[in-house]
Formats: sequence, C-alpha cells, structure tokens
Amino acid sequence: MMTENGWPHLNPLMRASVLLAAALSAFAQTAAPVINPGGIVDAASYGPVLAPGSIAAIFGSFPVGSPVQAASLPIPTSLSQVSVRAGAGGAAPLFYVSSSQINVQIPWDLAGQSQAAMTVMASGQTSAPQTVALASFAPAIFSVNGQGAIQDSSFRLINASNSATAGSTAILIYCMGLGPVSNQPASGAAALTSPLSETTNTPAVTVGGVPAQVTFSGLVPGLVGVYQVNAVTPANAPMGDVPVVISVGVATSSSVNMYVQAPDTDQSAGALLAQMTLDEKLQLVHGAYTFGGPAGPLNAEEWVPGISRLGIPDLLYADGPVGVYSSLGPATALPSSMANAASWDLDEAYKYGATISAEVRAYGMNVWLGGNVNLGGREPRDGRTFEAAGEDPLLAGSIKAAHIRGVQDQHLIGTLKHYALNDQETGRLLANAIIDERGARESDLLAFEVALKNSNAQSVMCSYNLVNGDYACQNDSLLNGALKGDWGFSGFVQSDAFAAQSSVASALAGLDQEQPGGYYFGGVWGESLDTAIQNGDMPQSRLDDMVRRILRAMYAAGLFNYPSAVGTIDADAGAATAQEVLEQGAVLLKNVGNLLPLDASKVGSIGMIGAHADVGVLSGGGSAQVAPTGGAALTLAPECPSSAVGTSALACHNASEIYDPSSPLKAIQAMAPSASVQFNDGTDSAAAAALAQSSNVAVVFVSQWESEGMDLDNLNFSNNQDALVSAVAAANPRTIVVMENGGPQLAPWLGQVGALLEAWYPGERGGEAIANILFGSVNPSGKLPITFPASVNDLPRPVIPSPSSASSTTPFAVNYSEGFNVGYKWYDTNGITPLFPFGFGLSYTTFAFSNVSLTSSGEQFQVSFDLANTGAVAGAEVAQVYVGLPASTGEPPRRLAAWTKVLLQPGEQQSETLTVSSSDVSHPLSYWDVNSESWQVASGDYTVYVGNSSANDSLTVAGTFHIGQ
Ligand code: BGC
Repeated sequence: MMTENGWPHLNPLMRASVLLAAALSAFAQTAAPVINPGGIVDAASYGPVLAPGSIAAIFGSFPVGSPVQAASLPIPTSLSQVSVRAGAGGAAPLFYVSSSQINVQIPWDLAGQSQAAMTVMASGQTSAPQTVALASFAPAIFSVNGQGAIQDSSFRLINASNSATAGSTAILIYCMGLGPVSNQPASGAAALTSPLSETTNTPAVTVGGVPAQVTFSGLVPGLVGVYQVNAVTPANAPMGDVPVVISVGVATSSSVNMYVQAPDTDQSAGALLAQMTLDEKLQLVHGAYTFGGPAGPLNAEEWVPGISRLGIPDLLYADGPVGVYSSLGPATALPSSMANAASWDLDEAYKYGATISAEVRAYGMNVWLGGNVNLGGREPRDGRTFEAAGEDPLLAGSIKAAHIRGVQDQHLIGTLKHYALNDQETGRLLANAIIDERGARESDLLAFEVALKNSNAQSVMCSYNLVNGDYACQNDSLLNGALKGDWGFSGFVQSDAFAAQSSVASALAGLDQEQPGGYYFGGVWGESLDTAIQNGDMPQSRLDDMVRRILRAMYAAGLFNYPSAVGTIDADAGAATAQEVLEQGAVLLKNVGNLLPLDASKVGSIGMIGAHADVGVLSGGGSAQVAPTGGAALTLAPECPSSAVGTSALACHNASEIYDPSSPLKAIQAMAPSASVQFNDGTDSAAAAALAQSSNVAVVFVSQWESEGMDLDNLNFSNNQDALVSAVAAANPRTIVVMENGGPQLAPWLGQVGALLEAWYPGERGGEAIANILFGSVNPSGKLPITFPASVNDLPRPVIPSPSSASSTTPFAVNYSEGFNVGYKWYDTNGITPLFPFGFGLSYTTFAFSNVSLTSSGEQFQVSFDLANTGAVAGAEVAQVYVGLPASTGEPPRRLAAWTKVLLQPGEQQSETLTVSSSDVSHPLSYWDVNSESWQVASGDYTVYVGNSSANDSLTVAGTFHIGQ
C-alpha cells in the first residue's frame, strides 16, 4: 500500500488563492461580510454539492486585511477574527481567509444532513446565510495547472513530461468528498497515519473511460479533508492526455486530465512473461481449435484463449485479403486485392486495409490474416492470384505494406502470408519449391521483405509447401535465417491452418504459434513443447522467446489498449470505398477509335451479354470469400478444375461461386436512360450475336472464377466464353469486353473487339464503377500489376507440376529454375512479347514525357521529367522508373525501381523527380551475393528508364550512370 508523505499541507489551488487574495487585500473593507450568490463551492472542482469533511471555498466580500492562513493543526475555527458557521455542524475549521475568499472544512459532524446554512461572521457582523447542498459522497479531484493532481509512486506529478505508462504506472489521485472513513479524525484535525483512515466505500476510477484497478482509498495522513486514491493505470487505457473520473455509486467527479503513454513493448512483454506459468505459456503458442469442437469466442475460426488473471486478451483471428471472411457474417465486398494493386496508389491501398480493419474490429476480432503477398506472376494460373498484389516485389510489397498499415493503425495485428514461395495450389501441402538462394531472395522473399519493412507487420504466416526440401513452417533458413535474422522481424510466426508438421523441429526452426490447434505443440500428434523442455529436447528459452514475440506483437499493435468491440459495419462507407477502389484499379487494355467512353445521348441501343451481368459481378472463393452486405446476387456450385484434387483442394470444393449484388445492367441503364439496353445471358452464342447485331454497341461480360484450393487449367475463359466473344464481335465490331477475373487471362478474340476493360473481381459496387468508366464519368488509370502472357506455353512451366496421384502423400518438386525472373523479368530476359505488359493501361486522355534527365551520386540516382496531359480530359498517369543493372550481374534487363501516379488536367504539365538509392528497402541497385549472404552493389553501368509500362517501346532511356571502378 502506498502512503503519501510528500504532499504539501495546502493543495495548489489554495496556494494560488493565497496569491490572489494578497492581490485583492488592498480592497479589504470593514463592511458586513457578504457571500456571493452561489459562492460556496468545493475547492477542487468548484461543484455546488459538498460532502462532510470536504474543503469548501466561500467567495464574497469579507472585512479582512491581509490574507491569513491557518498555521497549526488542528485547524482553528477562527482566523483573523473571522469565523464560519455551518448549520447544525457548528463552527467550521478555517484554512484561510482573505477579503474575497475563505476556505473551510465542512464539519464531519454534518454527516447525514442534506444541506447546511452557512454564515460568515466578522468584525461583529454576520452575513446573510447561504445554503449549501450536502451529500454523503461528492467526489472532486484536485488539479494543478489544468492537469489532475495525480502523482506516480515516487510522488512526481504526472504531466506531459512524466506520463503514466498504460498497464504499469501506479497513480495517486488527490481528491475529496469520498465520504465516511474508518478511524475518522475530528473536524479540523489531520488524518492519522496508524491505522490509516480508509474510506468505507471503495470508489471506482476510470482513466480515459477505462476502469482502473483501485488499490487504496483513504484520507492523506497529516492533511485535513484530502483523500488519496491509489490505482493502476489500466493496460487498455487510451494514449495521450485523457480524462480521469472518480465515482462512488452515482456520485461522479468532474474529470481532470492525465497523460498516458504506451508501454514499452519489450519491457511489458517481459514483465508479463515473468509472471506466467509453463501451462500459460503453452496456451499462447497454439490455437484452441479441436476437430468437431465449437468455434471460438464471437465465432472466431481460429483463436487463442487469453489469460485473464494477467489481463492478456483472447487472440481472435479473421481472414481475409479482400474483406472479412464470410464465416463471420456479411461485410463489404471490396474489389480483389489485385484490383487495388492495379491502382498503383498507396493511399488507396491504405484505405483498402483500413476499411477491412474497421469491419474486422466490428466483428470483435483482433488479428487479421489477409496480407497475401505471394508473387502471383510466378504461376499466373494460381487460384489465389486475386488475393495478392501481382508479380513485382516492390509493387506487391508496397501495396501489401499499405494494407497492413491500414489494419495495424486501427490496433489489429496484421499478418503477411504465405511465407514463402506458396505460388501454386495444386498439391499445395506437398509442393516442394526448389529455388536457388539468390533467386528466392530477389523475388518472393523480397516481396515479404519490402512488405514487412514498410509496415512493421506483427505476424507472418508460414505456408503449407516445402522450400528446398523443408516444410516452410519448419524451415530454419526461411524463419530463423531470413525473416528473424536478416530482416529483424520481432513479431511472431504462425502456421497456416494445419501447416505445422512437427513440434520441436518446427519450434526450433522458428515457428512461434501453431494454428488452428495444438496438434503438435500441445502434444496430440507429437511431443508437446512442455514435455520437450522437461526432456531436454528444447530449451525453456525458446518457449519464452515464442511467448515474448506473441505478447510483444499484442503490445505493439495495441491490443491491450484498444480492444476490439463488437459493433456495426458502416456499409455505406464500405460501399463507397469499394466503388472507388475499382474506379482507380480497373485497367483499360484496348480502345480502338475511341469507342470508349460511350456517349449516353448518342448510343441509342446497347446489347449486354453474359456473366450474369443482369444481376451481379463475380467474386473469388476460399478463405478470401466475403459474404456481401447486400446478400449474394447469385450463388453457383464451384467449377473446380480437374487438377483440384486431394486435401489441398477441399477449399475449392467447399466453395461457391458468389456474385456480389451490383448489377452492371442496371448501372448501365441508369447511365443511359434514353438508350434501349437489353440483356442476353450468353449461353447461346447465336442469340447473343443477334442481339449484338441489332444493337449500336455490344458489351460482353466474361468471367473466370478462381479460389483457394485450385489452379486454373489454363488462362482461357471457361464455358465457351471465348467463342461467345468471337461470335458477338463478328456480329458487331463495336464490341466492348469487360473481364471479371482474378489474374492474367488470354484474349484470343482481342483483334476482333473494339475495347477491353479489365475489371478484376469488381466488388459490391462493381456495376456502378464499370458503368462510370464505360461512360467516361471516371477516366481509367489502372495499370497491370501482373503480365498477361500471350500463351501458357510462354510461361516458365507450361504445365503446372502436380503430385504423382490424387492420394499421394509424397512431396513433389516444383522447380523454380527461372529464379528471380518472375513476370516481366522472365519475358524480357527471354525476349517473349506478352499479350499485355506489366505496368500497362490506357486512358481516355494522352500523356507525354519530356525533358527526361538523370543525375547520380555514388549509389543513388535522381531521374527528372516533365509529364503532360496532352488530351482533352483530366486523367492520371503512372510514371514508372526501371533500372537495368550491369550485364555482369546476370540480372534481367530491367526492374521496377520507383513510380509516381500523377493526376493532370487537360493541357497541364508537371515536373517530377524521383530518387532511388541502394539503401531503399527493395535493394533496387543490388543483387543477393550468395558468398557473403548479403546484398551487394556491382561495379558497372546502370541504365535508367522512364515510361508508362515495362515494355521497351513505352520507355525512354533517362541515362546511364556508373558505380565503382
Ligand atoms: C489459408 C490461409 C487462411 C487460413 C485460415 C488456410 O487454408 O491458406 O490463407 O488464412 O486457412 O483460415
């Protein structure tokens, strides 16, 4: 118990009043004393209600010369010939009198009274009485210079330069009006030390609205009428200058303020760890799921029960990459993550993450599992391409970092996944990615490194597959080596659901938490970690490290201080973001003779065809499936390709093809109210062609579903949709194709159609966004974050490697012999012309680069250029900077090094300068040197390019500079 020994005999307010009274003493009078109307208030918060024992300030005019202060205890009932009568309580003890203020103690003897008539007597004259309201409890906290009179346990005032730390700082709050106490002193007498005078009712304290644990409440020994409440700053108190309130029953003080700071994550985690038992530690390192058992709190699919005695909250996990996973309930169905990446806009990506985060919080969850940064371009048929952010480590890593920042800024733990080289779904539990160290470091691993360093993500999920012979979740070189060692990751590694393959081996390789249950770590299928420690198979220090990492992540993300609370989803805000994301991320791939934008007043008739565009837009499946807030427009059985077999394909077979409730037909009709808009479902090509022929323009929607648990057999649109487009285009060259798909597709009919818009999985406002683009209300500005090949034969692996049989349990090799040559780097290196290059996308206006120049210094360069909008409408262009390393390095011709997205009005020109340095997190000028196991900058010539796609003919050489000898 803390007792007060440094508190001055009179509180600071009273000291201030001494000074004030001194200033006013010149005006002292000898007239009868007068109490100002309403002039009797409590001396801490100036409230009108007082409790017996409290200190009251009486304001008025009193015939007093110089101010006088009580000089000894007990406090006298007469000072400077002034006395105060407090109704039935008799004479009140006086602290201080001046010509304008008198401070008294309300006598304890008034207990049980509801009011007291107060009179001031001086110079033989008596004031008119004034009645003060009394209550048993009238809590009021003293303040000092606007801050609460609150000290830490070293009796230092808590203020901006001495903040209380959430979760640990013990605070002493000085106040009054807390009612009866044990060992009560007489009126005017100081509180006793032994035994302490404790309040008979324990008050409640809140800090920033959060209840604090109260450890003591009583009178301050040696002082008159002042109480002290000791409490602990709550772990989940908000940060900053926050209100402190004391209440006893319904009697509540007005608030004072106190500074609270976030705990030091390391120290706090260490302090908690030190108090944990072995069982409690084990509890934190695995999920609580059991086969056939119930879901977790709030229906969480994955969860780790907290430890309430230590204030450690439950960890409740929510998928997914494009919005809250459907198992929790309806949420905003955003366009796919790939669509967001196609905006090349990090603010838009932050908003994307923040939108998901708000909804994850509203479901009460506190860990987000959606940061899929696998490099889609390595295997563009991967059924999870839509969840990720494309093929370039810098672009994908930056977009995913922005998602994570948007999530973690709202106090959830953000998770990057699936680490690493989890680039195909076919046999995903057995696929053994074989890749050389340099190839991995400069491609898939680099995407994680960029994402991690630009976001401070607190969790990383290791993947199902093997990497160079070791399962990713027990892969020392991936986990302990690159992630924790080289990149300094201080958060925790969790396994993908059932991806752990061992207990001790995994823990020693760097896995910190097994999900969804404790099958290995808890000892169901292997040696539990506590037994392993007892048997000497694993040091205790490793378990402590695992737990410390989890606790540190919880502190760093703010889980203790900002708990998620179940609330409602802001569906309107979500819908607005969904629409904006697609308007920024849809990519115009072809537009012959300015077929687009359509002119609503001239178009006359529109034939709309295919892909259920009358009712909705397609979404992707698996753990990235969102149940749209408006309810699905259409739910179809999944079309899992023949390759989707075995346990890894369950996610596909359990899925449904969900169409989000946004009708392109209705949105287009709304844009062109006077046009005749008719729909044909596209199942009969001849009927569709007939509609196209009789219409001014044909808009054909084609869709390709994909999902976790499957890869596409090829990159053609399924169900004869390619033939449908050909038939329609043959009937009407004014054919516009709108694609709804996850990643790259082939377009065998490209030469026949007039325009092509890539709308990805468009999200719950897809119809409106597509209509806005087709009619020019929005000028498209998206750029491909992934190359569209001309043929699957151009891919590094024309056929996706697969297990020897559907029931095989033997790992099979997937040889990533292309190494770092992923996506455009592969095509450029091999001189293959793709269908559409990385970074490509058209606009309704035109742009021109001019005055391109390069300066360099050491391992850094600056490229400058003017970018002009040379067309007739406003639009945004993504200026891309690529760099080619010296030929001696064996690197591909170019790699993305920087970009900027610039919005320009017609005729407007802007100067831009972008700086690239070898110290950037993406190592833009370096190669991974396997001998030194580090990034190295080679001597030689570096060529810098600027343009609006990765293709040679859209780039200008800004210049060449030399590094080294
Ligand atoms: C998926 C992960 C997901 C996890 C938990 C797995 O099947 O691969 O992406 O986060 O399930 O739902």
